[in-house]
Amino acid sequence: MVKPYKGTFTLTVVLTVILAPLAVLRPNLTERMVDEYIVMKDVPGMTMMAGLLFATLLIEVILRYFFLYNADWLGQAVLRDMRTKVFRHITNLNLSYFDRTPIGQSTTRTINDIESINTVFSEGSVTILSDLMSITAVLVIMFATSWQLTLVVLSVFPLLIWGSYQFKESVRKSYEKVRNHIATMNSFLQERISGMRIVQIFNAEQRESEKFKKINHDYTGANLRSILAYAIFFPVVDIISALSLGLMVWYGARGVLSADITLGTLIAFQMYINMLYRPIRMLADKFNNLQMGMIAAERVFGLLENDNFIKNTGTLKPVKMEGAVAFDNVEFSYIPDTPILKKVSFAIQPGQTLAIVGSTGSGKSTIINLLSRFYEIDGGSIRIDGHDIKEYDLFALRRHVAVVLQDVFLFSGTVLENITLRDTNITEEQAIAAAKMIGAHEFITKLPGGYHYQVMERGATLSMGQRQLISFVRALVFNPDILVLDEATSSIDPESEAIIQYAIEKLIDRRTSIIIAHRLSTIRHAHNILVLDKGEVLEFGNHEALLNNEGGKYRELYERQFVTTEV
Ligand SMILES: Nc1ncnc2c1ncn2[C@@H]1O[C@H](COP(=O)(O)OP(=O)(O)OP(=O)(O)O)[C@@H](O)[C@H]1O
Ligand SMILES: [Mg+2]
Repeated sequence: MVKPYKGTFTLTVVLTVILAPLAVLRPNLTERMVDEYIVMKDVPGMTMMAGLLFATLLIEVILRYFFLYNADWLGQAVLRDMRTKVFRHITNLNLSYFDRTPIGQSTTRTINDIESINTVFSEGSVTILSDLMSITAVLVIMFATSWQLTLVVLSVFPLLIWGSYQFKESVRKSYEKVRNHIATMNSFLQERISGMRIVQIFNAEQRESEKFKKINHDYTGANLRSILAYAIFFPVVDIISALSLGLMVWYGARGVLSADITLGTLIAFQMYINMLYRPIRMLADKFNNLQMGMIAAERVFGLLENDNFIKNTGTLKPVKMEGAVAFDNVEFSYIPDTPILKKVSFAIQPGQTLAIVGSTGSGKSTIINLLSRFYEIDGGSIRIDGHDIKEYDLFALRRHVAVVLQDVFLFSGTVLENITLRDTNITEEQAIAAAKMIGAHEFITKLPGGYHYQVMERGATLSMGQRQLISFVRALVFNPDILVLDEATSSIDPESEAIIQYAIEKLIDRRTSIIIAHRLSTIRHAHNILVLDKGEVLEFGNHEALLNNEGGKYRELYERQFVTTEV
């Protein structure tokens, strides 16, 4: 992680090592100033010492600036790299990861958890090292100056250590609670805001607000508990340090009177006590943050170690595919031991259209998930132009097989960006040509800004049919050799229906196509029809042949679903 920034890291550590004794130098100089010059009434010497003091202070300030800036810069640089790394990792993960992981969790990993790792740098490792170094430096010089006085100062330490430990534990516990509550609150909000329509349709505003109030209340409670720990701990440390100062002055003053201890030493010790308590005051808190950072780091690394990728070992990168698709006894399950597809076999000749029909949940969408290797099959084989799809380079395979999904997903951005997905190889002219071909050009130019119309999240401001047309253009602009279309189940008005129908005909024209069809018009145009039922192929053939099959599933579906609606 820190590797590319070795220079900065070394500099930070070196600065830490230099700064600790430098800070201790000042009380020491003050001591000598009092004892050797002020008491002796040596004015020029005193001025010289004052100058020296000022110089060390100046050097310390400058070095501390470099130290703080470098330590934080290092942290930020590492975080930036890590966020990019985590995002890149997530984008390559197998889709089954996303089936099992809530969206909120992946976002938390890339943003919140990485932010917590920041504390490891900003107030963790290096600063803790620096604090420990200055504590050691102060203790060494204190003992060297007067071991008796040092022991007096240290007499209250057991109390301090016990207090710090209690504080550390209490903060850790409440911090964990805060994190849990914040996660609950985030996922609650995310879900309700995306489902606001349902909330309002069912008049659930009041109930949801009550629920939110409760979550919010718990969250505040957890926060207050951690604030309480701070509110108790810091005054307690102040009292202990005052106690230690009082003891020191009491003992030291007697020493000064009996001339065992010099006045300068007494003054210097008062400064040492400050230097000793200031880092200790923060140390317990810093340890906590370090611990939290470590936990977050563990989670992030856990994600980075997830190697649930589709293995891209294929080497075939054809410029063009003929489009002969063959499924041979394909078996597949999303979850082990719950088979979704059972020995599915079929073949499509280049340029032909296959329509897949079947009741809901029969596995139609699953078939297309497998063709472009979004999931790995458990048995059998899938071949394109005679080669197993695993022999193709994954990106080449997906470049040639365009998939239009059942539910259209649009990103926020312009219509053009949604068509090209920021692929710079596709020009605006190509996008427009594809839109014209499909019959989407007309409606797009009517949008304010035309191809540069800003689409809102998920395309909320466009109609279902419009979203669908954009997704068609998206598929067509890549000029795929194989087109897979999962028709939306939602029905639309007859006029839009005609537009969509026209678009589909253009899409599948002269290329191998697989259509998961819900419209009779689409099915009728297909060369072959595959009837799927509970993951098994029931029938395969053209419209006429299947209709003539007395007692067949297709005939039954046809009569039940289409005849009534068509008439
Ligand atoms: N990501 C997934 N993880 C686990 N099970 C899934 C997943 N996607 C689908 N399934 C299951 O696989 C089966 C087939 O789903 P599939 O989406 O292929 O049906 P479909 O034929 O496309 O239905 P529809 O006509 O409603 O779109 C269903 O029983 C479903 O519960
Ligand atoms: Mg489906």
